[in-house]
Amino acid sequence: MSYENIIVETRGKVGLVTLNRPEALNALNKDLIDELSEALSTFDKDEDIGCIVLTGSEKAFAAGADIKAMADNEYVDTYLTDFLANWDDVTRVRKPVIAAVAGFALGGGCELAMMCDFIIAADSARFGQPEIKLGVMPGAGGTQRLTRFVGKSKAMELCLTGRMMDAEEAERSGLVSRIVKAEDLVEDAVATAGKIAEFSMPIVMMTKESVNRSYEVSLSEGVRFERRLFQSMFATTDQKEGMKAFIEKRKPAFKNR
Ligand code: HXC
Repeated sequence: MSYENIIVETRGKVGLVTLNRPEALNALNKDLIDELSEALSTFDKDEDIGCIVLTGSEKAFAAGADIKAMADNEYVDTYLTDFLANWDDVTRVRKPVIAAVAGFALGGGCELAMMCDFIIAADSARFGQPEIKLGVMPGAGGTQRLTRFVGKSKAMELCLTGRMMDAEEAERSGLVSRIVKAEDLVEDAVATAGKIAEFSMPIVMMTKESVNRSYEVSLSEGVRFERRLFQSMFATTDQKEGMKAFIEKRKPAFKNR
C-alpha cells in the first residue's frame, strides 16, 4: 500500500512511522488514521521488525483530530459510522510502540501518543487536551488515559482549562519516560527501539502485555497474570539461552523461540 499521510521506513529491526501532513500540523483525519492502522499492522506481522517508533514533525507530533474535517459532523452519522472506533488500533499492536513527540501533541495527538507504550519527548514537546475550547471534550481516551498517567488533579485541570504543559511538566507528572534534545529525538527513539528489538521477541511481547494488564485489572489479578506469564517463560528456548549466556559471560543469541 502506498501512503499519502504518513512515511513508513525501516531502520534495522525498527519500524519507523512518521505522521506527514505538514500543512495541517499533522491533524488526524480518517485517511491518516486508516493508513496508520495499516502500517502498524504490517509492521506487527513482519518477523524482521521488533519494535515500532511513531513520530511526527519538529513542529507537531499531531495538533489533534482534524477540526475542519469534523466541524460539520452530525451525531447520527458519527454514531452510525462509529466515528473514532479504529483510532485506538495502535493499542492492539502486540510489539512495543514508542511515541517520539516533538512540538504539539494536542487533543487526539496527545491521545494517540498516550496509546503508545511509552513516550519519549523532545524538549520542544507540548501536550494538552484543548477540546474544551472547541465545545467538545477528549474523545479518544484522553479523559481516561491522561488521568491514569498524571492523576486526577492535573488531568482535570488540563481537560477543563485546555492549557498545554511543556516537556518538563510532562516528565515530572509521569506522562513521558524522558526528555531528549529535539534534534536527537528520532535517533534516540530509534536507538531505544533497536535495543528492545535485540531482546527475545516473545518475551518482549509478554512483558508489554503484562505491564498493560496493570491498567485493566486489580493488583492481585495483575500479579497473578504476571506470575503465570513468568512461569511460562521457562518453556522458551530464549530463557535457557539468556540465563546460560549470563553464566558463561557472553552475549545471548536469542532465537525468538
Ligand atoms: C485542522 C489544523 C489543526 C487541527 C492546526 N491546523 N491544527 N487543522 N485540525 N487540529 C492547521 C491550521 O488551521 C493551519 O492551517 C495550519 O494547521 C497551521 O496552524 P496554525 O494555527 O497557523 O499554527 P500556529 O499558529 O503555530 O498554532 C499551532 C496550534 C494551533 C496552537 C497547534 O494550530 C491550534 O490551536 N490547533 C488546534 C489544536 C486543537 O484544538 N486540537 C484539538 C482538536 S479536537 P491553515 O490552512 O488554516 O493555515 C480533537 C478531538 C479529539 O483532537 C477527539 C478524538 C480524537
